[in-house]
Amino acid sequence: MCGIVGFVGNRQAAPILLDGLSKLEYRGYDSAGVAIRNGSEPAKVVKSQGRLRVLAEKTDNGRTLLGTCGIGHTRWATHGEPSKKNAHPHVSGNCTGSGSGDVESEVVGVHNGIIENYKELKEKLLKHGYQFYSQTDTETVIKLVDYYFKKYGDDPVNAIAKTMVRVRGSYALCLMFKSHPGEIWVARKDSPMIIGVADGETYVASDVPAILEYTRQVYYIGNLEIARLVPGEVTFFNLDGDEIRKELSEISWDANSAQLEGYEHFMMKEIHEQPKAITDTLSAVVKDGRIDLSVFGLTEEEVQNLSQITIVGCGSAYHTGVVTQYVMEDLAKIPVRVELASEFRYRTMLLPPNSLVVVVSQSGETADTLEALRQAKEKGIRTLAIVNVMGSSIAREADKVFYTMAGPEIAVATTKAYSAQLIAGYLLSIEFALVRGTISEEKYLEMMGELWALPAKIEKILEDKERIQWFVAKQANVQDVFFIGRGIDYAVCLEGSLKMKEISYVHSEAYAAGELKHGTMSLIEDGTLVIGVVTQKDLFDKTISNMSEVKSRGAYLMGLTTYGHYAIEDTVHFTVYVPKTDEHFTASLSVIPLQLMGYYLSVSRGLDVDKPRNLAKSVTVE
Ligand code: G6P
Repeated sequence: MCGIVGFVGNRQAAPILLDGLSKLEYRGYDSAGVAIRNGSEPAKVVKSQGRLRVLAEKTDNGRTLLGTCGIGHTRWATHGEPSKKNAHPHVSGNCTGSGSGDVESEVVGVHNGIIENYKELKEKLLKHGYQFYSQTDTETVIKLVDYYFKKYGDDPVNAIAKTMVRVRGSYALCLMFKSHPGEIWVARKDSPMIIGVADGETYVASDVPAILEYTRQVYYIGNLEIARLVPGEVTFFNLDGDEIRKELSEISWDANSAQLEGYEHFMMKEIHEQPKAITDTLSAVVKDGRIDLSVFGLTEEEVQNLSQITIVGCGSAYHTGVVTQYVMEDLAKIPVRVELASEFRYRTMLLPPNSLVVVVSQSGETADTLEALRQAKEKGIRTLAIVNVMGSSIAREADKVFYTMAGPEIAVATTKAYSAQLIAGYLLSIEFALVRGTISEEKYLEMMGELWALPAKIEKILEDKERIQWFVAKQANVQDVFFIGRGIDYAVCLEGSLKMKEISYVHSEAYAAGELKHGTMSLIEDGTLVIGVVTQKDLFDKTISNMSEVKSRGAYLMGLTTYGHYAIEDTVHFTVYVPKTDEHFTASLSVIPLQLMGYYLSVSRGLDVDKPRNLAKSVTVE
């Protein structure tokens, strides 16, 4: 969940590292540090607690650190409190004081992930005379590399490989050896890392946005692989120390998409990018009004024989699975189970042979989702990944990948990736329904047309965003919010509630409207804000009557519905309308005002919208 950046080339490394780290700050942000090498001089390490700007100010935006080879890190604490001492880079020597300053250590490195057996390894190293200055698992792994480096004759490949065999857990490691100037060494297992090359320059990063401005030519380093980076060149090795050949890949993302481009926050920019994310996702797979079934990796016969679909994800990705469940079951008549990856991976997985596991993930790196995918594969079940980040671990390991085309998403709270994932779920549902004969050709084409119309409808909602801002301004001191709905409306409530709590820190809950009487109703007091989402015609009266029940107990009601359902105004205090669409796709529209509500509430409370406290964009540890 931390961010890693490395650079070796002919330019000054520190400003490039700080710039790259600023693009990754959303991954973790309690401390930061860099280690820079100037020719064969030892690495200079500078660290600071707090946001990256503290480090930038300390080093005059990197200008006080000379050298063309370096590594940097932003930290999200796992082992050891956030402090300068625990911040990365870590060194193999007996670092004095805070860990900053010139060091004579052989090895200096940064790490993303968790070393599970670090206590046992630390014991071993203490016996060999190593002293520790931090509470981190990372310091142990750096010292272990040093131990093997000295023991087995100054060979980085061998030292790293020996270390990889000894450590348990996940890691993306980025190292420099004092006796190997102008080189960066990297290794990974179950933690993301990519390597980019440009003319005479080599970059490494834990996530694409960090290097997008400099290059789009990348290598994907595989699990349990090692690489040596020198200016403009990369050599890969396996655990046996044998060289491996790799092809360069090109990232299609546009460098500007990771810039604010005039918006105050990435979240607002990404909310506005949703129409494009939807159009791009549709354009990638829909040709002449149709989808080719092979994009999902299944034959017609396999779709006809599907006995069950299990959708697995975390956070908002899980929420899109809940929407897909309603749509798929209604259209294609295939039983669907939706599972939280963190629960699913530790349960007895009852997956029928003719079933499909669909894992959904923006980053493609969420640890629980990745593990759930691996377990499903081990059971011999076919897997399909709906992923946004090209070349990510989940994308590489699933039997088939459906790429959402949302582009880089920077704000911690997802918006455009969620919208693109919904589209993937709709396409899967209507295609399977056509193949299974549960919808007609005519209906199929009509629904396809509706999908293409969604972006313009979202634009229309966004044109009226000031109205939501006005409403939210009146609610700035709200303590609790309840979101209620039935069916797809309930599914979108889950997402609306998550958006609200994660960025505005207001307690919120999503409830199936029919469940209110089984407990939650006791929490309703005078003035409690209740948001009812009511877009499904057949469920309209049912939900409205649940809303009346809370109103008569003092709730302040906001209704979210489609144009035409004007009767809602008899019940609620404030209404937000979204355009009409096929009822299976209403989540794509009703989620927009809910995202805006979370955003405006966060802004009105003066909070850091893009980087909410305690949260990270990619959850690469369990
Ligand atoms: C984090 C993010 C969420 C995201 C979830 C799953 O919690 O803050 O926005 O939905 O992880 O991430 P994934 O990358 O697997 O979609």
